[in-house]
Amino acid sequence: MKEAEHQENAITASDLRKTFADIVAVDSISFSVKIGEIFGLLGPNGAGKTTTARMLTGVMRPDGGAAAIFGHDIVSDPIRAKQRCGVVPETANAYTDLSAWQNLMLMGELYGVPKHYAEERANTLLSALGLLERKDQLVQGFSKGMKQRLILAMALLHEPDLIFLDEPTSGLDVQSNHLITGMLRELHESGTTIFLTTHNMEEANRLCNRVAIMRKGKIAAIDSPERLKMAIERLHTIEVSFDPAGTDDNLASLQGIESARREGDKWMITTEDVDSTIRAICAFGAEHQLKIEVLRTLAPTLDEVFLRVTEGGTV
Ligand SMILES: Nc1ncnc2c1ncn2[C@@H]1O[C@H](COP(=O)(O)OP(=O)(O)OP(=O)(O)O)[C@@H](O)[C@H]1O
Ligand SMILES: [Mg+2]
Repeated sequence: MKEAEHQENAITASDLRKTFADIVAVDSISFSVKIGEIFGLLGPNGAGKTTTARMLTGVMRPDGGAAAIFGHDIVSDPIRAKQRCGVVPETANAYTDLSAWQNLMLMGELYGVPKHYAEERANTLLSALGLLERKDQLVQGFSKGMKQRLILAMALLHEPDLIFLDEPTSGLDVQSNHLITGMLRELHESGTTIFLTTHNMEEANRLCNRVAIMRKGKIAAIDSPERLKMAIERLHTIEVSFDPAGTDDNLASLQGIESARREGDKWMITTEDVDSTIRAICAFGAEHQLKIEVLRTLAPTLDEVFLRVTEGGTV
């Protein structure tokens, strides 16, 4: 891989591949994640997200292709590749017979963080993740959300430049979810690169700079959430309601409109050109002395993109 590529990218993967007996879990995928990006890997169960994350974090050796973390090859230079990473795996990895604090100190030792610094960091992280009061309790008494927050704190103790999270908020309540996504935003602002897998489209939409959608071991689509949404829907829907509502005039005669139909007291209009259609609707209202009560454009959601792509379509 070229030197210039290394300087910009936190992760580069080319033709990365993993098979289990006759299952091709990851089917020669290539992608890169830029330094400072929040990158989301989406896909249905069994798509190959965890296997990809496991290869990138050195848990599992690829069968083919190559990948590098900040320019360090994951197979030939694994220690240097791992040193700059923090990992929140799919299944919990804290010692349940130790306290939260002991788990954090253990991580500090593992990464060679000086003790006084590890203690300071642990206090800051526990406080930010709402666990400071529980720091001396054994992890076995922790709820799922508390465990997950602790695992995130453990992954961040050595201040990694890149953090991998495999479904970090799956099955968590609103508060844990909020604390974790808040922490991810803070990390992003301070320049940390974030690689996460998720089933939560809304979360990916709000958090990620770019997402890749995996299907059967391959990357079926990769782009920013907004561009993916735009790509699936050339036609936009505009919802409008007038007061008085019972006009018989047909909006479908307006120029540039694909279709217009009534749904209850609203009109649902589809168009390729949102701007000129909204102008035409306003002119129509003024001409017929109708007050516009509601006017909104309904954009496609990342959910729709996901369904389209994972059902075999393309964007
Ligand atoms: N250790 C393993 N041994 C055998 N097969 C495996 C192993 N790990 C993963 N697989 C298979 O590889 C495929 C991809 O699995 P993977 O766990 O990467 O999917 P995923 O996208 O993370 O799914 P989920 O959303 O359910 O977490 C699946 O068919 C799975 O059964
Ligand atoms: Mg998984």
